[in-house]
Amino acid sequence: MQIRLYQPADLPELRRITVEGFEGIAIDQNVERQLGIVGGHDWRWRKARHVDEDCEANPTGVFVAVAEEDGKVLGYISTRLDREGRKGRIPNLAVDKAARGQGVGRQLIEHALEYFRREGMAFAMIETMVNNPVGQHLYPSCGFVEAGRQIHYAMKL
Ligand SMILES: CC(C)(COP(=O)(O)OP(=O)(O)OC[C@H]1O[C@@H](n2cnc3c(N)ncnc32)[C@H](O)[C@@H]1OP(=O)(O)O)[C@@H](O)C(=O)NCCC(=O)NCCS
Repeated sequence: MQIRLYQPADLPELRRITVEGFEGIAIDQNVERQLGIVGGHDWRWRKARHVDEDCEANPTGVFVAVAEEDGKVLGYISTRLDREGRKGRIPNLAVDKAARGQGVGRQLIEHALEYFRREGMAFAMIETMVNNPVGQHLYPSCGFVEAGRQIHYAMKL
């Protein structure tokens, strides 16, 4: 496995891995369960759009894990930098179903943390849904400490 910088040609695969991976743990899917489809777009469209936004906002902070043999995309991690506040944030992380449980997610996180250090960040943040047991195991085991829980409310207009 290799971790390399994102290239625009990766985007369709990153979107696919994300939409597939976030089934059952996407906040927009919860909203959709409560309100139905709103604004003419379903949660999959909204989640895929997060990936587009990440790649637009900080393309040199999106890292892609690829298989050594054939270059197949295994997963990715996106990041944002708050240079003034010296905070690095990880908005999205996903690994293809077929490649999970082999340490790809952990290596992507470590890669992002190294990037944050290089860029002078003083701390890093990542969040996970309460119904995502993998995040709640993986993030503390990478060194993150729980800092709070948030409740999301939604209403139709
Ligand atoms: C989260 C995700 C990126 C992890 O990728 P991965 O390559 O499988 O991660 P790793 O193999 O490095 O580590 C997974 C860890 O979770 C553990 N794990 C797997 N299933 C678990 C479960 N149901 N409950 C608790 N821990 C679990 C593994 O044992 C491993 O821990 P270990 O290294 O201590 O043994 C991947 O599962 C994924 O894409 N999920 C869907 C999208 C998602 O949840 N993204 C993050 C949103 S916050």
